[in-house]
Amino acid sequence: MVRFWVLAVLGSLGLVAVLAAALGGVGWVLVAVVLLALLGVAVHDVVQTEHAILRNYPVLGHMRFLMEGIRPELQQYFIERNYDGRPFDRNTRSVIYQRAKGENEEHPFGTERDVYEVGYEYLVHSTAPVPPMDTPPRVRIGGPDCTQPYDMALLNVSAMSFGSLSAHAVEALNRGAAAGGFAHDTGEGAISPHHRHGGDLVWEVRSGYFGCRTADGGFDEAEFARKAADPQVKMTHLKLSQGAKPGIGGVLPGGKVTQEIAETRDVPVGQTVISPAYHQVFSTPRELVLFIGRMRELAGGKPTGFKLCVGSRTDVLAICKAMLEEQVTPDFVTVDGAEGGTGAAPGEYSDHVGMPLTEGLGIVHQSLVGAGLRDRVAIGASGKVATGVDLVKRILQGADYTNAARAMMMAVGCIQAQSCHTNTCPTGVATQDPRRQRALVVPDKAERVARYQRETVEQAMQVVASMGLRSFEELEPRMLRRRVGHGVVSSYADFTEPMRPGQLLTDPPASWRADWERADPDRFVP
Ligand SMILES: Cc1cc2nc3c(=O)[nH]c(=O)nc-3n(C[C@H](O)[C@H](O)[C@H](O)COP(=O)(O)O)c2cc1C
Repeated sequence: MVRFWVLAVLGSLGLVAVLAAALGGVGWVLVAVVLLALLGVAVHDVVQTEHAILRNYPVLGHMRFLMEGIRPELQQYFIERNYDGRPFDRNTRSVIYQRAKGENEEHPFGTERDVYEVGYEYLVHSTAPVPPMDTPPRVRIGGPDCTQPYDMALLNVSAMSFGSLSAHAVEALNRGAAAGGFAHDTGEGAISPHHRHGGDLVWEVRSGYFGCRTADGGFDEAEFARKAADPQVKMTHLKLSQGAKPGIGGVLPGGKVTQEIAETRDVPVGQTVISPAYHQVFSTPRELVLFIGRMRELAGGKPTGFKLCVGSRTDVLAICKAMLEEQVTPDFVTVDGAEGGTGAAPGEYSDHVGMPLTEGLGIVHQSLVGAGLRDRVAIGASGKVATGVDLVKRILQGADYTNAARAMMMAVGCIQAQSCHTNTCPTGVATQDPRRQRALVVPDKAERVARYQRETVEQAMQVVASMGLRSFEELEPRMLRRRVGHGVVSSYADFTEPMRPGQLLTDPPASWRADWERADPDRFVP
């Protein structure tokens, strides 16, 4: 090993000497400067105590950090196959980019996926397809206590804050939503000036109560009511948890609290702000439901709901019991899957805490059906929704509509560099660095957002027509098949015990009985 390094150094010096000789006098000065700089780096590397690799391999050890830094790009450009990149494979990313740009996204020569692999899924088409619907359907959101219902598109921009995303990205998303007639969730960072470009807003509030926060970090009812009255705000949204990091709070370091962020979030400039893992305004299912009712009142009757990544079925059932006892229902519930994205989260949480969307969505849908409440509460789903087929699958599994975060980021130029937490996003999407944001040209990207959403919904409409259906309401779990073993295929209907409307109240299915009995509207059971 030592011999290799000696040879490498001698070889490089020899090369430099040849170059210097070729350049003459100026060349020797340059060589001296370079060698002195390298010597300085080498001394620093040997003396520093932070990185063992640099102490043992001064100068050359920096290559490791360089390579680590560009690993996602190297992986994408040289290693990953079209269908195995993560979180989004190359084929999916290409569909989003091409759709957003309005380019031909047809795929030649057949699938590259292994259709005999366990876990492979496909939709059941009809031998007698029908013509696609003429116009994209919308979903009415608003239960009995809502006085200003909202008609939601089938695909919308999922919650992502200004602060997590750049000002340019937020503006492009909002302008795209305005052009395409779909909704844009503000994320927990409140309504910023960059959201003010005409796109319908869903105002999200989390435990930090940004945008409606008292000086001591509580919920400011008057401020909430004032901002929720804005005609651009169509719905309000209480965030309980998020799939990529359920059960943890957030910290916004003082250094990031600029004048603009401070004004947007109602917090003091330069001071670190904490979003606790839990809400102060409720601690039981009953209090949660009553708080949702209060938010809706304060919002002048606009649809109000909550977002969660499901933890346990018992918790969901406890919330349903609270709804029944208090006769208060949210207008919508957003179910986020463990596969969902984030600007930053500990890897343990993204990888191993929280329920994936398929199971979480099934539980929320079945629970509301069983409690006889499904007709009052709409369900939104988020978690790697990117294509028309994703949209169809989620609706078939119980959602009424879907939200996408990372696919929308890609529509504004994200290349999945996975550096959202470093402020060095190479495309200006997830950074507060004004120089990097310049890369994102708002009018062009806004158009892409609108085009991507429109074409994805149209593709979903086409798929539904190929399944012989005339509306999304006709989709059923039996229409999605999954290979569960070699030569064995099941439908999604086989995975869940059927639930009749109101059945939990009279005769809970055997596999639900224990959870239903344990569910307590006055306690979240650990
Ligand atoms: C950069 C980024 C920021 C996010 N910020 C929020 C947020 O403020 N509030 C929230 O509820 N979810 C937030 N999310 C989660 C998304 O809204 C969404 O639930 C999740 O990413 C799943 O959707 P996806 O798979 O389409 O990305 C964020 C996600 C990303 C990628």
